[in-house]
Amino acid sequence: MPTRLYPHSASPRIESDSEFLTAFRDHEFDKDFPEHIYEQSACHWTPMDVCQMAAEWLVEKPGTRVLDIGCGPGKFCAIGANATLGYFTGVEQRSRLVKAARELLERHRITRAEIVHGNITTVAFDAFDAFYLFNPFEENILPMLRIDHEVEMESRLYDDYTLHVQTQLERKPLGTRVVTYYGSCAEVPECYECVKTAYDGTLKLWLKTRTEVNDDVQPAPCRFPHLI
Ligand SMILES: C[S@@+](CC[C@H](N)C(=O)[O-])C[C@H]1O[C@@H](n2cnc3c(N)ncnc32)[C@H](O)[C@@H]1O
Repeated sequence: MPTRLYPHSASPRIESDSEFLTAFRDHEFDKDFPEHIYEQSACHWTPMDVCQMAAEWLVEKPGTRVLDIGCGPGKFCAIGANATLGYFTGVEQRSRLVKAARELLERHRITRAEIVHGNITTVAFDAFDAFYLFNPFEENILPMLRIDHEVEMESRLYDDYTLHVQTQLERKPLGTRVVTYYGSCAEVPECYECVKTAYDGTLKLWLKTRTEVNDDVQPAPCRFPHLI
C-alpha cells in the first residue's frame, strides 16, 4: 500500500532562519553536516544556487507541493522552502541521511518541509504537484557513484525505480512540472517536454504537454534504451 503524504495545514509563510540562504556559500552551508555527508557534497548534493533556481521553477504559486525524489541530507528541501512559498517533501531511503536532513530542517526552523524515510516505490505521487530529481537511481548502474553500503544496489533496481517514477509522472495532469539536474532524465516520460534549461543544460524544466503518445508524431529519441 503506498504511503500517502499530505501537505502541512498551516498557511504558507516564510518564517525560517533565512540568513543561511543568502549569506553562505556551498562549503559553508555543507560544513554543518556530519563529516561523512560534507565530504560527499560536491558529487551528490545539489549546489545552493541550483536548488534556488530549481525551486523557483517548480513553485508556480504559494502552497505548491514539491517532492524531492531521493532527498539525501535535505539541502534542496531546506533551500527550496526558504526561497519560495511551496511545501517541500523529501523521500530518502538511507537512515543516516534522513537523520541529517531532519536535523537540518530543525536547525534552521524550516516548517514548510518534511522528510520521509522510505523508498520512492512506496510514495503516492497524487499528493504532489511538482517533482525534483538529481540522479537518484544512477548509483545502481554506476558503481563510482555509490554513496555507501547501507542499501542494496542492483541494475534491476535502477529499472524498477525509473519505471515507477515514469509511470507515476505519466498519470499527473497536463502542466505538471518536473525539474532534473544532471542524469539521463530517463525517469521523465515522453509526454513531458523540456521547456527551459540552465547551468549549461544540466538543469532542465519539464512540462507535461501531452496526455498520450500521438501515433502520427515521430517517436522522440529513446532516453531509456535498456527497458526496450
Ligand atoms: C544524488 S543524491 C541527491 C540528493 C538531493 N536530491 C539533492 O539534490 O541534494 C540521490 C539520493 O537519492 C536517494 N535514493 C536513491 N534511490 C532511492 C529510492 N529508491 N528511494 C528513496 N531514495 C533514494 C539516495 O540515497 C541519495 O541520497
